[in-house]
Amino acid sequence: MLDKISDLIKEVSSLSVNNGEELESFRLKYLSKKGVISDLFDDFKNVAPENKKEVGQNLNMLKQQALEKYNSIKSALSAIDENSLNTDLSRPAFPFLSGSRHPISIIRNEIIEIFMRIGFTVSEGPEIEDDDHVFTRLNFAPEHPARDMQDTFYISRLSPEDSSPEDILLRTQTSSVQVRVMQSQKPPIRTVSPGRVFRNEAISARAHCIFHQVEGLYIDENVSFADLKQTLLFFSREMFGKETEIRLRPSYFPFTEPSAEMDVSCKICGGKGCNVCKYTGWLEILGCGMVHPNVLEACNIDSNRYTGFAFGMGIERLAMLKYQVNDLRLYFENDIRFLDQFKTAF
Ligand code: DAH
Repeated sequence: MLDKISDLIKEVSSLSVNNGEELESFRLKYLSKKGVISDLFDDFKNVAPENKKEVGQNLNMLKQQALEKYNSIKSALSAIDENSLNTDLSRPAFPFLSGSRHPISIIRNEIIEIFMRIGFTVSEGPEIEDDDHVFTRLNFAPEHPARDMQDTFYISRLSPEDSSPEDILLRTQTSSVQVRVMQSQKPPIRTVSPGRVFRNEAISARAHCIFHQVEGLYIDENVSFADLKQTLLFFSREMFGKETEIRLRPSYFPFTEPSAEMDVSCKICGGKGCNVCKYTGWLEILGCGMVHPNVLEACNIDSNRYTGFAFGMGIERLAMLKYQVNDLRLYFENDIRFLDQFKTAF
């Protein structure tokens, strides 16, 4: 019997148990009422009295060993079980709704990034402005008909100082930021100013009372119209592709002289003519010109020493060209079915 016990001790210690099923077989074979150890205890009464002590000790040792093995494997297996609950890689993920940038932000960032690459800074000004920054210092004379080019939302307010009516308004153009930058910085100035502007227009697919612009300003000694043209050509090719051509047409703005409007070759038809470019092969994207000496002087910059160029573009206009979304209202409704489509853009 001693031999049998020592064989079993060896067997129990070398046996490998890898899962719940094998553990249950182990239990049945060694530890259950009908198991081998229990049988040995039954036989114990037949052991000769002089051997009882030794056999009893060995038998207890065997039982202890089998029990310990069973318990330790049981707790190891249940730890693995819990772990595998937490790291079940086949479990479906929780739905995670990620947001996306608004198309206007995407285009604004793209414009800013292009100009930053050639040394422009970014500047901002207030949306609630005064007549002085939006019109007067930009060379709009009082009663000048050019003020009617932009239907303005006026805000009536009495001056806190002397209760006289103040000319407060929602800015109609980001050109007002030009004035603020020139008043607070010395040339050389190279800056782009993105922002919201407001005009008193009926809302339709083609017009909105709120939209976005990016203004550009470059003031230094010897800045020429050629610099303006080259800067805008660089911008257009970065924005619309290396093949893009530009065209400048004479125009009028009170704050620039000479003034121009710039077209880019239509990307959709490659200049051949399509319904996007209305069969002209060109798309107008911005207004520009050489900063009027009156504007430089009004902002305390010596117009004999410095010259500069400025330009202004509508972000919605560029977004419409880029994404072919031609109803302006969609940019303001925040319908996630619309916004979702810009998820992959940065
Ligand atoms: N501020 C003009 C507008 O809203 C756009 C513009 C035209 C800005 C010519 C400029 C410029 O700086 O030089 O229509």
